[in-house]
Amino acid sequence: MRIGIYGGSFDPVHNGHIALVRDALASGFIDCAVFVPSVRNNFKLYSMTLPAPYRYYMTKEVADDLRDSGKLDNVFVCDAEFGIKGVSYTFMTLEIMTEPGFMTGFLMEQGIKKKKAEGPHEFFWIMGSDTLGTFETWYKPEEILRHATLLAAERPGDGVDVEKAAESVRENLGGKVETFRLNGIDCSSSAILKSGDFSQVPNAAREFIARHELYSSRTKLEGVSDEARQRFFDSAIWMYPYLGEKRLLHTLNVGYLSAELAVRFGADPDKALIAGALHDCAKELDEDSQKEMAQDYSGDMFTEKKLLHAPAGSVFARDGFGEKDKEILDAICYHTTGRGNMSSLEKIVYLSDKIEPARKYMDLEPIRKAAKTDLDEAVRMTALAIKGKFDSQGREQHPLTVDMLRDLGIK
Ligand SMILES: [Fe+2]
Ligand SMILES: [Fe+2]
Repeated sequence: MRIGIYGGSFDPVHNGHIALVRDALASGFIDCAVFVPSVRNNFKLYSMTLPAPYRYYMTKEVADDLRDSGKLDNVFVCDAEFGIKGVSYTFMTLEIMTEPGFMTGFLMEQGIKKKKAEGPHEFFWIMGSDTLGTFETWYKPEEILRHATLLAAERPGDGVDVEKAAESVRENLGGKVETFRLNGIDCSSSAILKSGDFSQVPNAAREFIARHELYSSRTKLEGVSDEARQRFFDSAIWMYPYLGEKRLLHTLNVGYLSAELAVRFGADPDKALIAGALHDCAKELDEDSQKEMAQDYSGDMFTEKKLLHAPAGSVFARDGFGEKDKEILDAICYHTTGRGNMSSLEKIVYLSDKIEPARKYMDLEPIRKAAKTDLDEAVRMTALAIKGKFDSQGREQHPLTVDMLRDLGIK
């Protein structure tokens, strides 16, 4: 197959990206288009608004919707860059995607028949009309051209001489460059974020953004240091192989909400962000690993299967991600049960876990409302609701929870 690869931040994905891919497919140069959201882009290492997993899953929902609705066939999203350690450059992405077997496996996962998926494949790197002119300054452009033909958009009337730029690349670097005509609208992610006008963001992405309350004041991470913000972005990439989509986005949502609540209630927002983000990091590890890690952090304090992931998470965050801060590790350890004499940080992570925006298990509005003004009251309401559930099922709560309930004045 002839495969067009389209790398970008997709922060957020918008109709301009989709028009580019649509016209690239219509040009006849390629049979399918693969969006590759950047993970640690060399140009904007940490300047992206959202950590990589949000941008990857948001783009995926848009591509799924394009195919399901019959608007575009053969558009996919690939997580190839998550496998790159450190900063990613285009030539590295291409190295991974052109490795024997990689594309076959990927295409079969997308439902492409084995015979077609097995190749041979020819690779194209799709570019907007304004990027070809800078291509010669990219890192290792010859390497890129060794793996792929450049497929550059030409937009009538935007004043960029794409043909001239194409000729220059062919002459200076000896690579293959093709151009195609772009009829798409002119929009950019940065203009969308600046104006707050999301009308050029496809519905599937808008729903995703609303579900997780992204691009809101919360995800600006006001009050959080640059170091903690970078660490949060790194934690998201680190957890990606260990958690499925729903749980990964949940645990990151808890990070965002914890940081916001920490600013509101005078706790440390840097610690809250990291503790919240990592709180469920061990939840999809196998049970034996969870048991061993739980034992390591807190002996026999947690034995019930459902509770293991909390103390295990402290150890996984410590040994796997390198988080050494005891307050953060404790907030992870006690996020499910709570305990007596909880710190504000522990209360915040406990509460955020139960009420982050994507949570829908009961009517959470009263608790979310309380969390706007009164941390202890919101924690009390949450603990009471959980106690009610346990009581109705005739189940006993963990002794640590009993201590927390006592502190909260709940009998
Ligand atoms: Fe949990
Ligand atoms: Fe959780």
